[in-house]
Amino acid sequence: MRSNSAVERDTRYLIHQQTNLEDYARNGGVLMARGDGVYVIDDQGNRYLEAMAAMWCASLGFSEKRLAEAAYKQMLELPYYHTFNRGHMPSIDLAEKLVEIAPKVGDAKPLSRVLLQCSGSEANDTAIKLIWYYFNAIGRPQKKKIIGRQRGYHGNTIATTSLSGQPHMHRDFDLPLGDRFLHAANPHYYRYAKPGESEEAFAERLAQELEALILAEGSDTIAAFFAEPVQGGGGAITPPATYFDRLQAILKKYEILFLVDEVICGFGRTGNMWGAETYGIKPDLLTCAKALSASYQPISALLLNEAIYEAMLSQSRKLGTFGHGFTYPRSAARPSIGRRRARRRPDVRCRAGGGQADPGAVRSEAQGRPAGVGGMPEGRTDRARDRGQDRLYAAADHHRGPDRRDVRPVPAGPGCRLEGTAAIVNACGVAARPAPAAPLRGSTHGRRRPPAARRDGHRPASGSPRRAPVRSGRAAPTGRTCSPAPRRSRPHISRSRPCC
Ligand SMILES: Cc1ncc(COP(=O)(O)O)c(C=O)c1O
Repeated sequence: MRSNSAVERDTRYLIHQQTNLEDYARNGGVLMARGDGVYVIDDQGNRYLEAMAAMWCASLGFSEKRLAEAAYKQMLELPYYHTFNRGHMPSIDLAEKLVEIAPKVGDAKPLSRVLLQCSGSEANDTAIKLIWYYFNAIGRPQKKKIIGRQRGYHGNTIATTSLSGQPHMHRDFDLPLGDRFLHAANPHYYRYAKPGESEEAFAERLAQELEALILAEGSDTIAAFFAEPVQGGGGAITPPATYFDRLQAILKKYEILFLVDEVICGFGRTGNMWGAETYGIKPDLLTCAKALSASYQPISALLLNEAIYEAMLSQSRKLGTFGHGFTYPRSAARPSIGRRRARRRPDVRCRAGGGQADPGAVRSEAQGRPAGVGGMPEGRTDRARDRGQDRLYAAADHHRGPDRRDVRPVPAGPGCRLEGTAAIVNACGVAARPAPAAPLRGSTHGRRRPPAARRDGHRPASGSPRRAPVRSGRAAPTGRTCSPAPRRSRPHISRSRPCC
């Protein structure tokens, strides 16, 4: 490592999160210097295709001038103001827009109120508090337990880590906290279905297990169920057919609130604006972040229905104030959502292949469900290209295989490398494809990488220089990353590290 180099100073002063600290201290990391559309460029000038939009965040590309200018303009006008007992235009505009575009599925109560926060964790943590607050307000204080799912991920505060089904985030942090957080089975059909079990039968079994859990705990103690439409941090797991329908029937029966965590899936990731729309989820609460501002500003939102808001109102009347609030939530994110909304013109539809078609047309053949885990509605790509913005959306094409039904890594292009994502793109491919008979190539599911392997799958030989990223067109070949674990007959919490 170069002495007093940036890499050396990085390892000397900075603590890197969700990282093997010893490994990082020994080998150093890649320092990113610039962004350019779907690419990032490191301090040595190497160019990488950021195929996962940097943890699903930079959904409108890196260093997009119009977003930067909009934020700059807002900062000159009013860089910061709190929203404790004051309002300001960017927040009002954003809240109104979110209510306008919120998912409207079947007979679900409209999501009509918005709380702005700074991160996905904060939004989910706030939701947990509000759910407890709500049940106190309506005179059912015993209803306090919250159900997440094994390998689900909802954030890294004490409460949201407890709710997440990620054992490596619990271990030695003394989590999960208390007895208020429960974990239902993981809906990973490929891994956990019994031999010969159909997706529907698997979903029915999970629904029965959920009901058994609720009854064992006492249905009058269960307040809410949290789920991501597609599990991201748990390994890009799409739900089996009919899963959410069956679960929702049970939640309704026992008057359990449903929070849909759209932190990853929101804003087009599954082919519709919301994962809730893709999977027919009728949420009482919704959280979103990441693509809300394309992560140019740290901002998240919690949307809730009028019944929950009414309870908050009555509590605030009783207690004299609504005693919750962070300092920083405010909006410079308006341009992002505005642009996204503009692209939702009726003629801008998702398409599979060349023609204009309904979003539902982008489907996984065997599963009969939309396939676009890592992708975006493709109609956007062409429209954007017309306007000269092709680079912003190129990642969507890079995620898809030639038949546009699959999700798999493709060459990043001349002079370009894949940044830390080839393995994860492969994981998306696993999620979107029907369960194959033969072992999958290059999946990261369920197995720990060899110790020195970096996320992009590159494993330097001992003593080799730290930089040798995966070259164009060589994303995660067989053996570079892990194979999936064999099917197991019973769901369990995996002891392995998640792939994302
Ligand atoms: C589904 C989901 N919820 C919540 C979070 C936490 O968001 P943040 O890291 O912004 O706190 C994440 C982060 O990846 C996530 O994937």
